[in-house]
Amino acid sequence: MRVLVVGSGGREHALAWKLAQSPRLEALHAAPGNPGIARLGQCHPVRAGDAEGLLGLCRELETDLVVVGPEAPLVAGLADMLRHGGVAVFGPSRAAARIEGSKTFAKEVLEAAGVPTAARLAVARPPCVVKADGLAAGKGVFVCRTQDELDRGLRAAASLGDELVIEELVQGEEVSLFVLTDGHEMLPLAPAQDYKRVGDGDAGPNTGGMGAYSPVPGLGEAEIEELVETIHRPVLAELARRGAPFAGLLYAGLMLTDDGPRVLEFNCRFGDPETQSILPRLEGDLLEALAGVAAGALESRVSAGDTAAVTVVLAAADYPERGDSGTPIEGVEDAEATGALVFHAATARRGSTLLTNGGRILNVTATGDDLPAARTTAYDAAARISFAGMRLRRDIGLAAAEGHVRG
Ligand code: AMP
Ligand code: GLY
Repeated sequence: MRVLVVGSGGREHALAWKLAQSPRLEALHAAPGNPGIARLGQCHPVRAGDAEGLLGLCRELETDLVVVGPEAPLVAGLADMLRHGGVAVFGPSRAAARIEGSKTFAKEVLEAAGVPTAARLAVARPPCVVKADGLAAGKGVFVCRTQDELDRGLRAAASLGDELVIEELVQGEEVSLFVLTDGHEMLPLAPAQDYKRVGDGDAGPNTGGMGAYSPVPGLGEAEIEELVETIHRPVLAELARRGAPFAGLLYAGLMLTDDGPRVLEFNCRFGDPETQSILPRLEGDLLEALAGVAAGALESRVSAGDTAAVTVVLAAADYPERGDSGTPIEGVEDAEATGALVFHAATARRGSTLLTNGGRILNVTATGDDLPAARTTAYDAAARISFAGMRLRRDIGLAAAEGHVRG
């Protein structure tokens, strides 16, 4: 198959890396891709938001399957547009992608489907969580414990759009649970935990994600099955009932509270950086699974191997406020020599020099027999990479590796 991956981050590099292992792959292309993906296939200078340009590229390349990484093009209807143009796509329709694109729509679906979620509050009073309705790249959610935080949260959320969701602040362990689905069949992937805050010990502002690990202790096959039946299945049924059947990857962001799981959010695509920890553990042919979903017949059975993975994000000094560009990066090959994978998240190449080009620059992923082993390799590898201002969290997977969960 000739495959086109749409996007340019670490998630897309990880997808390209896994797809490149498929015996069914004939040619790998990316738009726009990045310097890491360029080592696996051919990158084309077409932006993920340029639907016309992508359709033209698919025709030129005679693409058999498009795999869409980021949410914004899906919410804008890229999958529908490509399908109308006769191209097979892994990624939901615009109508189904609203589950991520609108927090009020997601809440309506959850409530109608009877899925446990943080309760909506009629009055904003601390403690509570304020969410702007539309896509905000992880920056539209304000956890407010004090009146002062609430005042600031309400102002910031209002500046992002008209509609707000105010909900109860729930506490517990956060887990990302991804399900591949053609709308009927569901194939859960291994659960992962993401580290959203910028600093060690969950200090500082929210980011796109500073690291991840998989598996999550305490979530075995039976627990995953139960979560998927309580959460993903009723949501798929409700979306179908509304004439918006979902095919693609349905990502549930969950809080495991003392009173059971609560959905915090749905995403309509692979998570970043969780994917970088999930795919290296995956056994089986991802291309066959994604092509099955795109064709409406998910039959293949990929599953997680008996390993653990840890992903450490190497970010620019002032991330998340600001990114950095043009700073030389050293040591990627040294890092790879440890056996770790280095996924490019925001890099550029000038001649033979690799340069920073955004906020989250590189993702270092290592697998091992267990979380402590994976952590050791990931941090060893990360220590071999350097660029001016490089920042990383030191505690990715630490609590789980030590046998207790994060509080
Ligand atoms: P979201 O984009 O909805 O996942 O929110 C971003 C982050 O805000 C989540 O990963 C949680 O850490 C936090 N969050 C969102 N909703 C809630 C909630 N109802 N209670 C507590 N924390 C929340
Ligand atoms: N890791 C969070 C996200 O992909 O939305």
